Amino acid sequence: MKITKICCIGAGYVGGPTMAVIAQKCPQIQVTVVDLNEERIAAWNDENLDNIPIYEPGLDKIVGEARGRNLFFSTDVEKAIDEAQVIFISVNTPTKTFGKGKGMAADLKYIELCARQIAKIAKDDKIVVEKSTLPVRTAEAIKSILDNTGNGVQFQILSNPEFLAEGTAVQDLLNPDRILIGGDSTEEGAKAIQSLVDVYSNWVSIDKILTTNVWSSELSKLTANAFLAQRISSINAMSELCEKTGADVNEVAKAIGMDSRIGAKFLKASVGFGGSCFQKDILNLVYIAKSYGLNEVADYWEQVIIMNDHQKRRFSSKIVQTLYNTVSDKKITFLGWAFKKDTNDTRESAAIYVADDLINENAKIAVFDPKVSRKKILADLDYLESRNAENNANAILSFEDPYEACKNAHAIAVLTEWDEFAQYDWQRIYDSMQKPAFVFDGRNILNRPALEKIGFVYQGIGS
Ligand code: NAD
Ligand code: UDX
Repeated sequence: MKITKICCIGAGYVGGPTMAVIAQKCPQIQVTVVDLNEERIAAWNDENLDNIPIYEPGLDKIVGEARGRNLFFSTDVEKAIDEAQVIFISVNTPTKTFGKGKGMAADLKYIELCARQIAKIAKDDKIVVEKSTLPVRTAEAIKSILDNTGNGVQFQILSNPEFLAEGTAVQDLLNPDRILIGGDSTEEGAKAIQSLVDVYSNWVSIDKILTTNVWSSELSKLTANAFLAQRISSINAMSELCEKTGADVNEVAKAIGMDSRIGAKFLKASVGFGGSCFQKDILNLVYIAKSYGLNEVADYWEQVIIMNDHQKRRFSSKIVQTLYNTVSDKKITFLGWAFKKDTNDTRESAAIYVADDLINENAKIAVFDPKVSRKKILADLDYLESRNAENNANAILSFEDPYEACKNAHAIAVLTEWDEFAQYDWQRIYDSMQKPAFVFDGRNILNRPALEKIGFVYQGIGS
């Protein structure tokens, strides 16, 4: 089947950029991205491309090129489903906050709602594509809903997980390491797989498009995230040992990364990984393993999360200890709040947890992040429910200017690796701070010798 109309349910960090790139690369296909969130859709349609809801380098240009031509953002979910031959489901699949599997399992209520809506609306055969990250065997549940409540039309379900990382989403989408498409081995399944292969092959070479059965595809996504996060927890575990032994984790990472079997990427020790995916997906993997009675498998992967929680807490404890065991009423400046550079996303950012620990110690946290608003920072803290909103608002000072944020601070903590932080006038910052002036570099991005020469007391991760 030649695809000319695609609908994507969910205009978030995955749906928005992914569909923008498909639309840019396939001008012959009409792509409609729908969402229930009216504010988000209005922002995607904002004439001023600076106001699109997701900050990703290069995304504004792509949206500007395709929007109104063959890329549309709408809240009319039913119409888009009705018209499309292919429907991507790209809604959020957060960790359950209630009931069985609370704190571990993926909450699939949004996925089920999509399946029921597709079943209700569809009047002709459709290909339904799982773009969201889902527990292995979710396609079975989607199929059961579609087949039992539908209008007698045929559905093919494909799994096509997304591997983009935030901050580099556009580059990752334009140049993916691979595209993974899982589908049924029946003749109809093979045809559906081929239809999607034909879409991607508009810009991805065919040898990078991998086809598998549905379950392998679903599980590969959870596996990839588990392996990536495991590398970070592994190097972070070593960072603590480095601090005790005089080894330097940057040197250790370089030395092991040059072994081609290990590889150099994803070995940057840090204050701990954040983001909406790693923790959620590993917890989900742990839950799935437990549900099959595979306790050793579950415990093995859970350790990645335990190590990450430890690394975040270790960072806040180090700040308190170094500041003479009290941060009460001291101004501590956070450079960065986003979970990584080049994104405005703060979900599960280490900054949230470090701030929460320090606020428990009565510190005042001054925050500067080039892309994150005060409203977002307070919402992140309120979500933890550690204290009431008023107390959070009193504990957080936010700034539009990094030098103002650092003025009179007892310490600076680097929480996000924004490039600009290394370029600041650190002498000027030093001059405006309380002395001794402490820097806790949670990303190892600052020039330690230069800072120490100025007079800072510098502490990085793992050295
Ligand atoms: P998101 O929260 O940014 O976006 C999801 C959107 O879906 C929201 O705007 C929400 O309003 C909308 N939505 C929910 N239910 C809906 C419904 N029934 N009808 C219409 N719209 C609905 O989430 P995201 O970061 O884009 O992630 C989506 C999925 O992709 C998740 O499963 C995630 O694990 C996976 N994923 C995310 C990333 C990433 O970097 N963020 C990368 C790969 C995979
Ligand atoms: C991740 C996966 O990389 C991506 O393939 C998947 O589709 C979604 O989840 P993302 O969370 O957007 O992407 O960013 P990523 O670059 O993986 O970083 C995640 C966290 O790990 C960030 O907080 C980052 O700062 C941290 N990190 C990453 C490290 O601490 N050290 C590293 O070496 C790499």
